[in-house]
Amino acid sequence: MIVDFQSWAGHCQASIEAFLDLRLPAADCVPVRLHQAMRYAVLDGGKRVRPLLAFAAGELGQADVERVKVVAAAIELIHAYSLVHDDMPCMDNDVLRRGKPTCHIEFDEATALLTGDSLQTLAFELLAEKRLTEDASTQLDMIKQLANASGSRGMAGGQAFDLDNVGKTLALPELEFMHIHKTGALIRAAVMLGAHCSSQLNETQLKKLDRFAKCVGLAFQVVDDLLDAEATTATLGKTAGKDAENNKPTYVSIMGIRETRERAEQLQQDADNILCEFGDDALRLRQVTDFIIKRKF
Ligand code: IPE
Ligand code: IPE
Ligand code: MG
Ligand code: MG
Ligand code: MG
Repeated sequence: MIVDFQSWAGHCQASIEAFLDLRLPAADCVPVRLHQAMRYAVLDGGKRVRPLLAFAAGELGQADVERVKVVAAAIELIHAYSLVHDDMPCMDNDVLRRGKPTCHIEFDEATALLTGDSLQTLAFELLAEKRLTEDASTQLDMIKQLANASGSRGMAGGQAFDLDNVGKTLALPELEFMHIHKTGALIRAAVMLGAHCSSQLNETQLKKLDRFAKCVGLAFQVVDDLLDAEATTATLGKTAGKDAENNKPTYVSIMGIRETRERAEQLQQDADNILCEFGDDALRLRQVTDFIIKRKF
């Protein structure tokens, strides 16, 4: 077993990259432009935080890593689709993502739209194509969970709320509602789908993991807001200061840098406390959480 976090994360990232490379349609397969754009949006970039969470949750329940890899890839595909659409002129209007021109800049808007659509359906194709759990009904439930996390009651709903509130000042509970949906829902799905690949975790443990995942999901967007205000474009690989420029309500706009940092640290503490009963078995989940909170990009 690899103990060092950097080596473990590097191993997971390489394995998810190879799998995505294999499962995305080849760049010379028609329609070539769409397939090139799909590969452009997914491969060779990103921190792969959601796959890391799925692998860490799977490890906690000693799940088969080949199965976890499939759910990790499905979630990363949904995430990549959400980024392609998030960057489009009708949403955040960004030109830089993962250190490269955004998908609609490198290709065109129609291709970016279809890239998002196609990445989303590929995610569900992966989840449905082979057995991932001992019990088939659990797998159906996982497909439903990912659909819920991605749709109007999850990520897409959070994005709608985000767009509706440009230029407005939100109260903290409303801001949390937005963050929990636009970002938290998919992070929660990453943990839970990874955990569901195991048949060793009982209901109480799964409920604990879900509470943990909610904290981490919110913390992730809190840190994203902070980095947008504090980091540079070169470090982020996306345009810094974009939230202020687009008049987005964020943690930073509501409570300032210092309190936002404290909120992130508090959420890490809450997340760690929930993992308490798992003892050393949850080391990996704690390490990924620490990476999420302390990351510089
Ligand atoms: C950025 O997500 C968008 C949000 C949901 C905040 P990440 O910071 O995980 O982006 P990549 O995948 O590493 O590029
Ligand atoms: C994006 O939030 C959330 C989703 C893509 C679902 P942001 O708009 O803050 O993400 P970045 O900062 O552009 O990566
Ligand atoms: Mg956005
Ligand atoms: Mg954005
Ligand atoms: Mg952001």
